[in-house]
Order: sequence, then C-alpha cells, then structure tokens
Amino acid sequence: MLFSEDKISEIIEKNDIVDVISEYMALKRSGRNYMALCPFHSEKTPSFSVSPSKQIFNCFGCGVGGNVITFVQKIERIEFVEAVKMLAERAGIQLKEEKDPRRLEIAKLKGVLYRVNTEAARFFHNNLNIETKALEYLERRGLSDTIIKRFGLGYAPNEWHGLMDHMKSKGFDAELLFKAGLTVRSRDGKSFYDKFRNRIIFPIIDLKGNVIAFGGRVIDDSKPKYLNSPDTPVFNKGYNIYGLNFVKKVQNLENIIVVEGYMDAIALHQYEVQNAVASLGTAFTENQAKLLKRFSNEIIISYDSDLAGQAATLKGLSILEKEGCVVKVLSLPSGKDPDEYIRKEGIDAFRDRIKKSVSLIEYQIENLKRGLDINNIQDRIKFTKGFSEIMKDVLSNVEVDAYIRKYSGIMKVSEEALYSELNRLRKKNKIGKNKHNILNGIKAVPELKKGEITAEIYLFNICIYYFKKVKNIFEVLEPTDFSNDIHIRIAEIIQKAYKEDKAITAGEVIAFFDNDDEKSKVAEIFSHKLPDSDVNELINASLERIKQSKLDRTIQKMTEKMNEMYHAGKKEEANKIFVEIKELQKKKR
Ligand code: CTP
Ligand code: MN
Repeated sequence: MLFSEDKISEIIEKNDIVDVISEYMALKRSGRNYMALCPFHSEKTPSFSVSPSKQIFNCFGCGVGGNVITFVQKIERIEFVEAVKMLAERAGIQLKEEKDPRRLEIAKLKGVLYRVNTEAARFFHNNLNIETKALEYLERRGLSDTIIKRFGLGYAPNEWHGLMDHMKSKGFDAELLFKAGLTVRSRDGKSFYDKFRNRIIFPIIDLKGNVIAFGGRVIDDSKPKYLNSPDTPVFNKGYNIYGLNFVKKVQNLENIIVVEGYMDAIALHQYEVQNAVASLGTAFTENQAKLLKRFSNEIIISYDSDLAGQAATLKGLSILEKEGCVVKVLSLPSGKDPDEYIRKEGIDAFRDRIKKSVSLIEYQIENLKRGLDINNIQDRIKFTKGFSEIMKDVLSNVEVDAYIRKYSGIMKVSEEALYSELNRLRKKNKIGKNKHNILNGIKAVPELKKGEITAEIYLFNICIYYFKKVKNIFEVLEPTDFSNDIHIRIAEIIQKAYKEDKAITAGEVIAFFDNDDEKSKVAEIFSHKLPDSDVNELINASLERIKQSKLDRTIQKMTEKMNEMYHAGKKEEANKIFVEIKELQKKKR
C-alpha cells in the first residue's frame, strides 16, 4: 500500500514524538531535549535523545535515529507500512476508505467483538470481588493482587446466563456473544448459554492490547481442566502467544522463555522474569515461531519434563530452528512445571536453571544419559550408539569435537571409540568417512532414490522374471504391505500363483483386471526395466525401502495420535504412545 506524502506528513504532525516515545519509556527533560537509556542497545548512561522541536530521536551510543515512524518501526519490530497504520490509528486518521462491503463488514464486526471481549473481561475481573472462593483460589496459588490485576484475571460465575445477563444490560445481544465464542448454542439451536461457568478466567490479549479470547480453568477437579475460546474473527489459536503483549514492551530483550501454561507464564512475571510467554498447550506453530522471532532471536523452551512434554519440546525446537532462532532448553526436575518449581524452590533456583539451559543437541544427549550407569559396560555401549545417532547430523566439526571431548570424559568412553562409532554410522548412511573429512560430500544417498512405489514395481518385475525369487519376497511381505490398491491386487495375484507353485507372466496378471484403465496401468508397471544390478541386492534394498515407508507411516500416525492425546490433556496416554514411538524409531535406518 502506498501512502500519499500528505498523509505521511499528517501522521507525523499528529503523533508528537515525545508523546509516542513516552508511551514506551520514561523520558527525562534535559535542556531543550529529552534523554533516556537507549532501548535499542544496552547502556548504563543515557545517550538516547529526543528533540521535540525537530521531532526526531537519536542515539549517540549506537547511532540509531529517525522520526516518529522510524521509532515505532524499531520498537515494535514492524515494517514501515505497519508503523504508519498504527500511528494513523493512534491519531484517528483515516488512511483510506474501505470499499469492499464484505471486508468492511468484517472490520466492523471485529471492532464490535473487541468491545464485547473487553466488557466480558471487565465483568469476569469484577466477579473476583463478589465471589470470594475465586480470589481465594488465586491467592492459594500464590498470586499477588498486583499480578492478578496486571493479567486481568477473573472469574466466570457458576450460572448459565451470568455473563449473558450482564452483557445484555450493556446492550450486547446473544448472537454477538456467540460470535465472540463466549456462549454456546443449546442443542435445539434455539437458545444460548454461557460457555465459561465456575472457572478462573485468563484473558488473552494481542499485541495491540485487544482482548481477543479467553482461557478458563476449573477451581476444583472437574473436567476439562482448561477450556479455551474457539477460533473467532478476532482469534486464531496458532497465531497468538500468551503474554507477548507484556514481553514486547521489555527493553533490551535478551531472550524469550516459552512455557506451556497460563499459570507458568504468570508465575514467572510475578517474580519479575519479564520475558516469559506461554504457547498455551497447543501444538507450536510456524506462525507462533515467526511471531516470537520478531522480538528475539534466542528462545528458551521450558515445557513439562514428562515424556510427552519432551516430545513437545523437540517439536517446538525444530519449528523454531527452522525460523532461524537460536533455541535452548531449560529442564526442570521430573514432574515439575515452572510454576510449581518456582513456588517450591524459589525464583533464584529458576534463574539458575535459565543460565544452565542447553542447546538441542545437549538436551538430547542429556536425555540419553539419564538412567545410564557409567560403571556398566552395556550402558556405556548404549550411550556410544545413542550419542552417535544424535551427532550424525551435526554439521560443524568444531561442534562435534567439542561434544566428543566433553562426553568422553563424563561417560568414561574414549574419544576414539566415539569417533569410530560416529564414522561407522555416517558411513552406513553414506555421510563422509573419518574424523577429518567427516562431512565431505554429505549426501544422504538412500539405497533406492525413487521411493516406495518404484521399490514395489521392481519387486513385481522380479517375480515375473525370476520365479525362484518370489519366495524371498512373499516370505517377508504381505499383499497389504503394498502402498496402493492396484499394487495390493497385483501382489495378491502373484502370491496366489506362488502358493500354487505356478510361474506367472505379466500378461496373465493383466488378465485379472477388468477395466481398461487398470489394465493399462498394470501394463505400464510391467514394462518397467529393472536396473542393472545384482538381483538379490535389488530385492533387499526394495524390501528395506518398503519396510521403512511402512514404519514411517506408522510413526506418523502414532505421532498424530500422541499430539491429539497430549493436547486433549490426556498426558498419560500420550506418554505411553511416545514410548512406543521411541521403540519404533530405533528400527529406523
Ligand atoms: N491446556 C488446554 N486444555 C487442556 C489442558 C491444557 O488448553 N485440557 C493448556 C492450557 O493452556 C494449560 C497448558 O495447556 O495452561 C498446560 O496444561 P497443564 O500442564 O495441564 O496445566 P498447568 O498449566 O500446569 O495448569 P495448572 O498449573 O493450573 O494445573
Ligand atoms: Mn501447573
């Protein structure tokens, strides 16, 4: 979008730079200018200056400077266009008339929903003064009045129409509350009732300060423990991070700590760990990673230390790394989440854990190490193998050397043994050769490049040309192991003939198919040429390829299942599946 020069001038004129900057930090008058500690670099004496007459800012320390738009761009980490829009809104300047009636309507609805949510949040918050058991619950969990206010926590009464009645008195109708995700439609579709009842309420606030959704926690043992707003025109789960509205205001942010739960993030803020956010138990998304990266490059993840939490940690880590973040893991003793840990061990112990947070590689190695006894030979062998598995994809030799040195000492395994196992593994995976050219020519050359379908086609052709080999194939595979319907039927036909001790030709297989389309597909399968290699090798490679694909599919299905369980709060089941997945992964090449 392009803005006219006039518009830009108007925006700069109507947003006094001193006022705008004061919304982010304290400015001190100094002669004709204002001074402050620079928010863009770390310093002890102020070198950041703002000139009201020139309407510019400038830092003598790090050299940043510009007008009010530049400042907003930098402090909010947003693009020019975004900054202009924000300032236009702040000054009540219309940028352009929205003409598309549908978009106009959505924009209008969003505006109304923000007001609905704000009023609902106010209602929930005020209830804390009315319902003592809610406030008592929060106090029992160690929350101070200040933090309760700061996060706008509240309580939804134990009534079917508590919120609805209140909102009605403020002029908001039931349909609107439904659109805001605050009510549920009754089964017959004719009436509505409050979605959140007898729950502690956590408002979710976006980066602009709008209330966009709510989380609600029971105050007893009822189920489900947490209930969240559905997606609405103003809320999209995977696009938001709880607490980021506070974190974005922190100056000289060094890193961001990501925890799972509302209570964890709030507890950290109460103890002045101001860089904590919560991912809200949902699967960590690419969009959340992008959002975080806008504010800090370094992300520290501190999820539950149970197995499913570990799996979630790994998943989050890889998504963050893909976005180019430096990611670390903060581990806590098993069964503790950050909230519980702080309450029990104190904030200093937690800060110490932050300092000790480790990289992904180290996290994996530490997981491996747990439960192994360095005095036991079998355990040391287990460690050596697992360690090499973890290290085999590490690209930097410096890093490899450093880890080998460190863990050779800790685990009483010689450096040579670790190098040699790692090289063996890499050779098997066709990655490099020895310590010094370990990474030369990294290419993970799978035995069969074209994948599963090709492998199956090879096997079919082998069955036709080498009748004696059919045995080797169908002793290992069942027709249902093949990847698609036509392949399954071909396999059935060949297997049947084999059981009757009959050699079968391609033409005979084709004859089993009725429709022309299928016939020509099968003909194509049998017109494939076999590669020019040893037939036994080809069989083995093909079988292996098919087995691996099958394994991949099973693992993928189980991972989906595990995530589903985990996010439904069924952590025990999730853990069980996780253990099974780990077992299957061991079978992977
Ligand atoms: N969560 C959810 N729905 C569930 C369970 C969990 O949305 N049925 C989300 C919530 O955001 C919750 C987070 O996952 O904060 C972590 O869940 P859990 O570890 O079970 O809860 P805690 O945060 O430890 O909650 P508390 O300390 O209040 O028991
Ligand atoms: Mn907890």
